[in-house]
Amino acid sequence: MVDKRKVRKAVFPVAGLGTRFLPATKAVPKEMLTVVDKPVLQYVVDEALDAGIEHLIFVTGRGKGLIEDYFDIQVELEQTLRERNKTAELTLLESILPEAGSTSFTRQQAPLGLGHAVWCARELVGEEPFALLLPDMIMRGEKGCLKGMVELYEQSGGNVIAVEECDPDQAHKYGIVGVGDKVGEGFKVTQMVEKPAKGTAPSNFFINGRYILQPEIFPILATQERGAGNEIQLTDGMLKLSEAQEFAAYHFKGSTYDCGSKDGFILANVAFALARADIRPTVEKQLAELLNAAK
Ligand code: UTP
Repeated sequence: MVDKRKVRKAVFPVAGLGTRFLPATKAVPKEMLTVVDKPVLQYVVDEALDAGIEHLIFVTGRGKGLIEDYFDIQVELEQTLRERNKTAELTLLESILPEAGSTSFTRQQAPLGLGHAVWCARELVGEEPFALLLPDMIMRGEKGCLKGMVELYEQSGGNVIAVEECDPDQAHKYGIVGVGDKVGEGFKVTQMVEKPAKGTAPSNFFINGRYILQPEIFPILATQERGAGNEIQLTDGMLKLSEAQEFAAYHFKGSTYDCGSKDGFILANVAFALARADIRPTVEKQLAELLNAAK
C-alpha cells in the first residue's frame, strides 16, 4: 500500500557554505542573493506555497541570521513607508510575510552535507511526507515544479523526485535516474546513479533539486556513512530508501537555474528580467548592444 498522506511541510536546507560564490557569500547567504528584485530563496518559497505547502522549515547555520530576519516584520521600515504613503511597497512586504507560526528554523551546526541537513529537520517534520527544495535552484516553467510533483504524488504516493532532460554528453555531472513505466506526467524510477561514469548513464533525466520524501528517510540518514566529498549524501540515503519504497519521477518542463554557481545566477537574472514586462524593454535592448559589442 503506497503512502499518499498530504504533503504539508517543506524543508529548505540553507546551511551550506556557498564556496562556489565567494567572496559574495562570505557575509551574505547565497540564498539571499537577488535575482532581479527578490532573494533567490523567495522564488523557492513562492514555489512551495503555490504547491499548497503550509509549513516552511529552514535548516540554517552560522551567518544565516539574515534569512530569519527576512521572514519577519521590519517595524522601522514599515513605519517609514506608512509615513511616506508608500502603499504599494507596504502591500508588497505584507504579501510576502509568511503567516505567523508557519515557519520553523533549526540549525545544522556544521555543514556535513545535504543528507545531514535534511536529517536536522527530522523533529520538525515528524512522521509525515515532506517536500525538500534545494534553495539555490530556481525554476521557470508553465507550472510550478513542486505543484506538478504534488499532482503526480496524488496518483503515485511514495517518493517523488523532479527530473529534467540534459544533453546526454553532460549526464556524468548529475544524479541520473533510470526510466520505468509511465505515471501521470512522469514515470517510475528504476534506478538512481550519482554522477555516472561517461557513457554509462541509464538516461539523460537528471534530478533537479526538488523531492517529496517519506519520513522513513530519517532513520536511514541517521546511520549513514559519509559518501562523496566526505559529506553525508542525500542520494545515498534515497538509494537505500528505494530498496523498500517506490520512487516516481516528475518530468518538469521548464528551465532550472543553479544560482549557487556564477553562470547559473547570471543566466537566472537575465531570464527573469526578460520575463518581466516592466524591465524587458530596456534590458533586452542593452543586452543586444552588449552582445554586439563583445563580438
Ligand atoms: P550545495 O552543495 O549546492 O551548497 O548544496 P554549498 O555546499 O553551500 O555550495 P558550494 O558547493 O560550497 O558552493 C545544496 C543545498 O544544500 C544546502 C546548501 O545550502 C544548498 O542550498 N546544504 C549543503 C546544507 O544546508 N548543508 C550542507 O551541509 C550542505
